[in-house]
Amino acid sequence: MTTLWSGRFADRPDDQMRRFGDSIGFDIRLWEADVTASVAYAKALARAGVIDEDERYALLEGLARVRTELADGEFVVQPDDEDIHTAIERRLGELIGRVAGKLHTGRSRNDQVATDTRLYLRDQIVQLRQHLTRLQRTIVDKARTHIDLLMPGYTHLQPAQPVRFSHWLLSFFWMLQRDRDRLDELLRRVNVLPLGAGALSGNPLGIDQSYLARELGFDAIALNSMDAVSDRDYLVEFLSWASLVQIHLSRLAEDLILYSSREFGFVEIADAYATGSSLMPQKKNADSLELIRGKTGRVVGDLVGMLMVLKGLPTTYNKDLQEDKEPLFDAIDTLTMTLPIATSVIETLILHPERMQAALTDEMLATELADYLVTKGVSFREAHYLVGQVVQRALAQGVDLRDLLLSDYQEVSKLFRRDLMKWLDFERAVERRDSVGGTARASVEAQLAVAERLLE
Ligand code: ARG
Repeated sequence: MTTLWSGRFADRPDDQMRRFGDSIGFDIRLWEADVTASVAYAKALARAGVIDEDERYALLEGLARVRTELADGEFVVQPDDEDIHTAIERRLGELIGRVAGKLHTGRSRNDQVATDTRLYLRDQIVQLRQHLTRLQRTIVDKARTHIDLLMPGYTHLQPAQPVRFSHWLLSFFWMLQRDRDRLDELLRRVNVLPLGAGALSGNPLGIDQSYLARELGFDAIALNSMDAVSDRDYLVEFLSWASLVQIHLSRLAEDLILYSSREFGFVEIADAYATGSSLMPQKKNADSLELIRGKTGRVVGDLVGMLMVLKGLPTTYNKDLQEDKEPLFDAIDTLTMTLPIATSVIETLILHPERMQAALTDEMLATELADYLVTKGVSFREAHYLVGQVVQRALAQGVDLRDLLLSDYQEVSKLFRRDLMKWLDFERAVERRDSVGGTARASVEAQLAVAERLLE
């Protein structure tokens, strides 16, 4: 057997060591990027006069055949294929003979793998962006359909003030919108060409990197070869992006798990996204959401793992960097599942408006009463205290704010008049909050309009 580097070695590597060092088990999925990058590199070699026209033809023809084999699942990985780069070069040699050995002129697997990973990630980003947009779209549609629905808004998980269901749901739209912005932003740093960096010091053959960048759709060329082969910052950025998306999804999941519990009962997860219990026949568990929440841990783990690989790494390539791929792939795979599942859960979510209505309790109108006193000239601090006294009375009598007698109110403050009753109204409380970003219908409509525009 020969490896790409066997010339200097008298003994073949220990079998265990081979298994330890091989990455073909996971980097096989870079195959398409690897072939694409090699096609561009073969053309660049010809342009630089390193290979002649026949050799260029042979390489391109051979690479096309390798691509077909890989695409059709006919490519057979051999035990000595260390990684995808080795495997493709080995197969190319079998197909076209010695000329295959010219493809690697001036190139190292260090700039090769950096190029492949960036190409691969770029494609994945396009996919993930679509998944993200679909989820946003679903949120907007659901919010619009149910714009009239009111529910309790919580702080500290205690009933706070009434809000529109749509307003709550749209809060996640904006988290995801920032995620979409961040993704577009980080793509700029992904889309930089490292090819031509060689092992670490650059390419001596007059390779036209602008041509390579154009062929491969990169927007820029890495300006320092040593940085180019060891830069994994874009993976850290991507993984932190992925972590944040998962954290947003897990917060959405957590709200929905709570709201679908018997105690809240505001929503119900469609059967298709829930499971039962093997023991308790009555159970319907929100497994889809629990898994979204649970998988957040692994994605954050992918990020932390990547950061640890980089910490204290000497400059340029070290084999440690091979450890960048599994966390990357894992995060991509996870989000590729969680985003569509979250979308489907929202799409099929069953709402229980009567339960939301029933959960709107008078205490959530206490702020209204304070505002009422403010209209009578009382400072908000004082009003807050006085309404606190009213609430205390209601609690002591075991009645709701709306059932307290006017005389009870007036014992707390003479400023309370009969007209206070019209302030004790959920719809009114919601409609008063017509600030930008408020929960009044007009504000939510305005929010929806911007959201729609962002989705165009
Ligand atoms: N499989 C390797 C990786 O993923 C490719 C680069 C190998 N480079 C090297 N100098 N051994 O990192």
